[in-house]
Amino acid sequence: MSRRKIIIDTDPGQDDAVAILLALASPEELDLLAITCVAGNVPLHRTQTNARIVLEAAGRTDVPVYAGCPAPLHRPLVTAEHVHGKTGLDGPELWEPQMPLAEGSAVDAIIEALRSHDPGTVTLCTLGPLTNIAAAFNTAPDIISRVQEVVMMGGAYFEVGNITPAAEFNIYVDPEAAEIVFKSGAPITVMPLDVTHKVLATRPRIEAIRALDSRVGHFTAEMLDFFERFDVEKYGSEGGPLHDPCVIAWLLRPELFSGRHVNVEVETRSDLTLGMTVADWWRVTDRTPNALFIGDADADGFFELLTQRLARL
Ligand code: RIB
Ligand code: CA
Repeated sequence: MSRRKIIIDTDPGQDDAVAILLALASPEELDLLAITCVAGNVPLHRTQTNARIVLEAAGRTDVPVYAGCPAPLHRPLVTAEHVHGKTGLDGPELWEPQMPLAEGSAVDAIIEALRSHDPGTVTLCTLGPLTNIAAAFNTAPDIISRVQEVVMMGGAYFEVGNITPAAEFNIYVDPEAAEIVFKSGAPITVMPLDVTHKVLATRPRIEAIRALDSRVGHFTAEMLDFFERFDVEKYGSEGGPLHDPCVIAWLLRPELFSGRHVNVEVETRSDLTLGMTVADWWRVTDRTPNALFIGDADADGFFELLTQRLARL
Protein backbone atom coordinates (compact mmCIF):
# COMPACT_ATOMS: atom_id res chain seq x y z
CA MET A 1 0.00 0.00 0.00
CA SER A 2 1.48 3.40 -0.94
CA ARG A 3 2.10 5.81 1.88
CA ARG A 4 -0.46 8.58 2.17
CA LYS A 5 1.04 12.08 1.94
CA ILE A 6 -0.36 14.33 4.65
CA ILE A 7 -0.03 17.86 5.97
CA ILE A 8 -1.12 18.37 9.57
CA ASP A 9 -2.57 21.85 10.15
CA THR A 10 -2.72 22.32 13.88
CA ASP A 11 -2.98 24.47 17.02
CA PRO A 12 -1.19 22.36 19.66
CA GLY A 13 -2.93 21.73 22.19
CA GLN A 14 -2.37 18.45 24.02
CA ASP A 15 -4.77 16.51 21.80
CA ASP A 16 -3.12 17.94 18.68
CA ALA A 17 0.21 16.75 20.09
CA VAL A 18 -1.07 13.21 20.51
CA ALA A 19 -2.37 13.27 16.93
CA ILE A 20 1.05 14.38 15.66
CA LEU A 21 2.75 11.61 17.66
CA LEU A 22 0.32 9.02 16.26
CA ALA A 23 1.15 10.17 12.72
CA LEU A 24 4.90 10.06 13.42
CA ALA A 25 4.52 6.53 14.78
CA SER A 26 2.88 5.35 11.55
CA PRO A 27 5.52 5.80 8.82
CA GLU A 28 4.39 2.72 6.86
CA GLU A 29 1.03 4.33 6.17
CA LEU A 30 1.69 8.07 6.44
CA ASP A 31 4.25 10.39 4.85
CA LEU A 32 4.08 13.56 6.97
CA LEU A 33 5.16 16.30 4.54
CA ALA A 34 4.88 19.21 6.95
CA ILE A 35 3.23 20.61 10.04
CA THR A 36 1.52 23.96 9.48
CA CYS A 37 0.55 25.90 12.58
CA VAL A 38 -2.42 28.17 13.14
CA ALA A 39 -3.59 30.34 16.04
CA GLY A 40 -6.30 28.61 18.04
CA ASN A 41 -5.97 26.96 21.43
CA VAL A 42 -3.19 29.45 22.14
CA PRO A 43 -1.64 32.24 20.03
CA LEU A 44 0.48 31.34 17.00
CA HIS A 45 3.87 31.89 18.66
CA ARG A 46 2.91 29.15 21.14
CA THR A 47 1.32 26.73 18.66
CA GLN A 48 4.41 26.80 16.42
CA THR A 49 6.66 26.43 19.47
CA ASN A 50 4.57 23.53 20.76
CA ALA A 51 4.65 21.77 17.40
CA ARG A 52 8.46 21.91 17.46
CA ILE A 53 8.55 20.64 21.06
CA VAL A 54 6.43 17.62 20.06
CA LEU A 55 8.73 16.83 17.11
CA GLU A 56 11.79 17.08 19.37
CA ALA A 57 10.12 14.81 21.94
CA ALA A 58 9.65 12.23 19.17
CA GLY A 59 13.11 12.75 17.70
CA ARG A 60 11.65 13.87 14.37
CA THR A 61 13.11 17.29 13.75
CA ASP A 62 13.31 16.39 10.04
CA VAL A 63 9.63 17.37 9.67
CA PRO A 64 9.32 21.07 8.70
CA VAL A 65 7.14 23.30 10.88
CA TYR A 66 5.63 26.42 9.30
CA ALA A 67 3.90 29.29 11.06
CA GLY A 68 0.60 30.32 9.51
CA CYS A 69 -2.18 32.76 10.22
CA PRO A 70 -1.97 34.56 13.59
CA ALA A 71 -5.69 35.38 13.62
CA PRO A 72 -8.95 34.35 11.94
CA LEU A 73 -9.81 35.76 8.51
CA HIS A 74 -12.24 38.41 9.73
CA ARG A 75 -12.46 38.18 13.51
CA PRO A 76 -10.33 38.62 16.60
CA LEU A 77 -8.70 35.44 17.89
CA VAL A 78 -10.45 33.46 20.61
CA THR A 79 -8.14 31.09 22.52
CA ALA A 80 -8.68 28.23 24.97
CA GLU A 81 -6.05 28.51 27.72
CA HIS A 82 -8.81 27.50 30.14
CA VAL A 83 -8.66 24.04 28.56
CA HIS A 84 -5.03 23.66 27.51
CA GLY A 85 -3.23 25.88 30.05
CA LYS A 86 -1.19 29.00 29.39
CA THR A 87 1.41 27.23 27.24
CA GLY A 88 -1.20 25.22 25.36
CA LEU A 89 0.81 22.11 26.25
CA ASP A 90 0.55 22.21 30.07
CA GLY A 91 1.26 18.94 31.86
CA PRO A 92 4.80 17.79 31.03
CA GLU A 93 7.91 19.87 31.65
CA LEU A 94 8.47 21.91 28.49
CA TRP A 95 11.57 23.44 26.92
CA GLU A 96 12.55 26.00 24.31
CA PRO A 97 12.83 24.00 21.08
CA GLN A 98 16.16 24.01 19.25
CA MET A 99 14.83 23.09 15.81
CA PRO A 100 14.12 26.19 13.70
CA LEU A 101 10.85 27.13 12.09
CA ALA A 102 10.85 26.44 8.35
CA GLU A 103 11.25 29.45 6.09
CA GLY A 104 8.07 30.84 4.56
CA SER A 105 4.44 30.86 5.58
CA ALA A 106 2.21 27.88 6.24
CA VAL A 107 -0.23 29.10 3.60
CA ASP A 108 2.47 29.13 0.93
CA ALA A 109 3.70 25.72 2.11
CA ILE A 110 0.22 24.24 1.72
CA ILE A 111 -0.13 25.74 -1.77
CA GLU A 112 3.33 24.55 -2.82
CA ALA A 113 2.78 21.03 -1.52
CA LEU A 114 -0.51 20.65 -3.36
CA ARG A 115 0.96 22.05 -6.60
CA SER A 116 4.15 19.98 -6.48
CA HIS A 117 2.59 16.58 -5.74
CA ASP A 118 0.31 14.71 -8.12
CA PRO A 119 -3.36 15.72 -7.95
CA GLY A 120 -5.34 13.70 -5.43
CA THR A 121 -2.30 12.56 -3.45
CA VAL A 122 -2.09 15.03 -0.55
CA THR A 123 -4.47 14.90 2.43
CA LEU A 124 -5.00 17.94 4.65
CA CYS A 125 -5.44 16.88 8.30
CA THR A 126 -6.87 19.90 10.13
CA LEU A 127 -6.81 19.91 13.90
CA GLY A 128 -7.56 23.57 14.61
CA PRO A 129 -9.38 26.56 13.13
CA LEU A 130 -9.44 26.39 9.34
CA THR A 131 -7.84 29.78 8.74
CA ASN A 132 -4.68 28.51 6.97
CA ILE A 133 -6.66 26.19 4.71
CA ALA A 134 -9.21 28.86 3.75
CA ALA A 135 -6.43 31.38 3.11
CA ALA A 136 -4.66 28.86 0.85
CA PHE A 137 -7.90 28.11 -1.04
CA ASN A 138 -8.59 31.84 -1.45
CA THR A 139 -5.04 32.57 -2.61
CA ALA A 140 -4.74 29.61 -4.98
CA PRO A 141 -8.15 28.18 -5.95
CA ASP A 142 -6.38 25.82 -8.37
CA ILE A 143 -5.19 23.68 -5.44
CA ILE A 144 -8.71 22.75 -4.29
CA SER A 145 -9.20 20.12 -7.00
CA ARG A 146 -5.75 18.70 -6.13
CA VAL A 147 -6.71 17.90 -2.52
CA GLN A 148 -7.11 14.15 -1.90
CA GLU A 149 -9.22 14.73 1.24
CA VAL A 150 -9.67 17.21 4.04
CA VAL A 151 -9.96 15.25 7.29
CA MET A 152 -10.92 17.71 9.99
CA MET A 153 -11.62 17.70 13.68
CA GLY A 154 -14.43 20.21 14.06
CA GLY A 155 -18.09 20.84 14.45
CA ALA A 156 -20.85 18.98 16.20
CA TYR A 157 -24.47 18.01 15.67
CA PHE A 158 -25.96 15.89 18.49
CA GLU A 159 -23.24 17.10 20.88
CA VAL A 160 -23.89 20.75 19.94
CA GLY A 161 -21.24 23.14 21.33
CA ASN A 162 -18.20 23.13 23.62
CA ILE A 163 -17.10 26.77 23.45
CA THR A 164 -20.66 28.16 23.17
CA PRO A 165 -23.96 26.32 23.61
CA ALA A 166 -24.09 26.03 19.80
CA ALA A 167 -20.54 25.79 18.44
CA GLU A 168 -17.42 23.63 18.60
CA PHE A 169 -14.17 25.56 19.16
CA ASN A 170 -12.31 25.00 15.85
CA ILE A 171 -15.31 26.14 13.81
CA TYR A 172 -16.29 28.92 16.22
CA VAL A 173 -12.87 30.59 16.13
CA ASP A 174 -13.04 31.11 12.36
CA PRO A 175 -16.53 30.36 10.99
CA GLU A 176 -15.88 32.17 7.73
CA ALA A 177 -12.85 29.96 7.10
CA ALA A 178 -14.89 26.87 7.89
CA GLU A 179 -17.61 28.01 5.47
CA ILE A 180 -15.01 28.40 2.70
CA VAL A 181 -13.73 24.88 3.27
CA PHE A 182 -17.17 23.25 3.51
CA LYS A 183 -18.27 25.03 0.30
CA SER A 184 -15.00 24.39 -1.55
CA GLY A 185 -16.00 21.10 -3.17
CA ALA A 186 -12.97 19.31 -1.73
CA PRO A 187 -13.70 15.81 -0.35
CA ILE A 188 -14.26 16.27 3.41
CA THR A 189 -14.40 13.88 6.35
CA VAL A 190 -15.45 15.47 9.64
CA MET A 191 -14.61 14.22 13.13
CA PRO A 192 -17.12 16.25 15.19
CA LEU A 193 -17.67 16.25 18.95
CA ASP A 194 -20.32 13.60 18.29
CA VAL A 195 -17.55 11.07 17.84
CA THR A 196 -14.67 12.61 19.79
CA HIS A 197 -16.75 12.71 22.97
CA LYS A 198 -16.94 8.91 22.70
CA VAL A 199 -13.15 8.53 22.67
CA LEU A 200 -12.29 9.36 26.28
CA ALA A 201 -8.80 9.15 27.77
CA THR A 202 -9.93 7.38 30.93
CA ARG A 203 -7.54 6.72 33.79
CA PRO A 204 -6.80 3.07 32.76
CA ARG A 205 -6.10 4.21 29.19
CA ILE A 206 -3.72 6.95 30.38
CA GLU A 207 -1.94 4.50 32.71
CA ALA A 208 -1.50 2.04 29.82
CA ILE A 209 0.31 4.81 27.93
CA ARG A 210 2.39 5.76 30.97
CA ALA A 211 3.30 2.09 31.40
CA LEU A 212 5.12 2.24 28.07
CA ASP A 213 7.77 3.82 30.29
CA SER A 214 9.33 5.71 27.39
CA ARG A 215 10.04 9.43 26.95
CA VAL A 216 7.03 9.72 24.62
CA GLY A 217 4.87 7.55 26.87
CA HIS A 218 5.51 9.75 29.91
CA PHE A 219 5.22 12.95 27.84
CA THR A 220 1.85 11.84 26.49
CA ALA A 221 0.51 10.63 29.84
CA GLU A 222 1.49 13.89 31.51
CA MET A 223 -0.28 15.90 28.78
CA LEU A 224 -3.41 13.78 29.21
CA ASP A 225 -3.27 14.07 33.01
CA PHE A 226 -3.64 17.83 32.56
CA PHE A 227 -5.96 17.78 29.53
CA GLU A 228 -8.68 15.65 31.17
CA ARG A 229 -9.50 18.05 34.00
CA PHE A 230 -11.59 20.53 31.94
CA ASP A 231 -13.94 17.94 30.43
CA VAL A 232 -14.17 15.83 33.60
CA GLU A 233 -15.21 18.93 35.59
CA LYS A 234 -17.55 20.24 32.86
CA TYR A 235 -19.20 17.05 31.67
CA GLY A 236 -18.55 14.72 34.60
CA SER A 237 -17.03 12.40 32.00
CA GLU A 238 -14.55 9.62 32.81
CA GLY A 239 -11.75 11.32 30.91
CA GLY A 240 -10.76 13.94 28.37
CA PRO A 241 -11.99 13.42 24.78
CA LEU A 242 -9.09 12.77 22.41
CA HIS A 243 -10.47 14.96 19.65
CA ASP A 244 -7.62 15.44 17.19
CA PRO A 245 -6.09 11.92 17.17
CA CYS A 246 -9.39 10.72 15.64
CA VAL A 247 -8.29 12.45 12.41
CA ILE A 248 -5.12 10.37 12.18
CA ALA A 249 -6.79 7.17 13.38
CA TRP A 250 -9.29 7.58 10.50
CA LEU A 251 -6.40 7.42 8.02
CA LEU A 252 -4.91 4.36 9.73
CA ARG A 253 -8.02 2.32 10.54
CA PRO A 254 -11.19 3.83 9.04
CA GLU A 255 -13.10 0.72 10.07
CA LEU A 256 -13.00 2.02 13.65
CA PHE A 257 -15.43 4.77 12.64
CA SER A 258 -18.89 5.16 11.13
CA GLY A 259 -20.85 8.12 9.81
CA ARG A 260 -23.05 9.52 7.07
CA HIS A 261 -22.39 11.58 3.95
CA VAL A 262 -24.57 14.62 4.56
CA ASN A 263 -24.78 18.34 3.92
CA VAL A 264 -22.94 20.48 6.47
CA GLU A 265 -23.19 24.27 6.53
CA VAL A 266 -21.76 26.79 8.99
CA GLU A 267 -23.53 29.65 10.74
CA THR A 268 -21.51 32.83 10.11
CA ARG A 269 -23.98 35.61 10.97
CA SER A 270 -26.06 34.89 14.07
CA ASP A 271 -24.43 35.96 17.34
CA LEU A 272 -26.47 33.30 19.13
CA THR A 273 -25.34 30.33 17.01
CA LEU A 274 -22.13 31.62 15.38
CA GLY A 275 -19.94 28.72 14.27
CA MET A 276 -22.66 26.10 14.56
CA THR A 277 -22.27 23.26 12.05
CA VAL A 278 -25.74 22.58 10.73
CA ALA A 279 -25.50 18.94 9.63
CA ASP A 280 -28.49 17.60 7.71
CA TRP A 281 -28.06 14.22 9.46
CA TRP A 282 -31.71 13.23 8.80
CA ARG A 283 -31.60 14.52 5.21
CA VAL A 284 -34.63 16.79 5.64
CA THR A 285 -33.38 19.29 3.06
CA ASP A 286 -32.40 19.07 -0.58
CA ARG A 287 -29.00 20.57 0.19
CA THR A 288 -26.21 18.61 -1.50
CA PRO A 289 -24.18 16.32 0.78
CA ASN A 290 -20.64 17.73 1.06
CA ALA A 291 -19.04 15.84 3.95
CA LEU A 292 -18.71 12.43 5.57
CA PHE A 293 -19.85 13.31 9.10
CA ILE A 294 -18.56 10.73 11.57
CA GLY A 295 -20.86 9.86 14.46
CA ASP A 296 -19.38 6.80 16.16
CA ALA A 297 -16.12 5.06 16.96
CA ASP A 298 -14.77 1.88 18.53
CA ALA A 299 -13.06 3.59 21.48
CA ASP A 300 -11.28 0.47 22.71
CA GLY A 301 -9.95 -0.20 19.23
CA PHE A 302 -8.83 3.43 18.98
CA PHE A 303 -6.85 3.34 22.23
CA GLU A 304 -5.37 -0.06 21.35
CA LEU A 305 -4.11 1.46 18.08
CA LEU A 306 -2.84 4.62 19.79
CA THR A 307 -1.00 2.81 22.57
CA GLN A 308 0.56 0.25 20.23
CA ARG A 309 1.79 3.02 17.91
CA LEU A 310 3.12 5.26 20.69
CA ALA A 311 5.17 2.26 21.87
CA ARG A 312 7.12 2.56 18.63
CA LEU A 313 8.45 6.07 19.39
O1 RIB B 1 -13.10 21.45 20.15
C1 RIB B 1 -11.94 20.65 20.21
C2 RIB B 1 -10.89 21.18 19.28
O2 RIB B 1 -10.51 22.50 19.66
C3 RIB B 1 -9.59 20.36 19.32
O3 RIB B 1 -8.95 20.42 18.08
C4 RIB B 1 -8.78 21.08 20.35
O4 RIB B 1 -7.37 20.89 20.17
C5 RIB B 1 -9.15 22.51 20.05
O5 RIB B 1 -8.34 22.94 18.95
CA1 CA C 1 -6.65 21.27 17.97
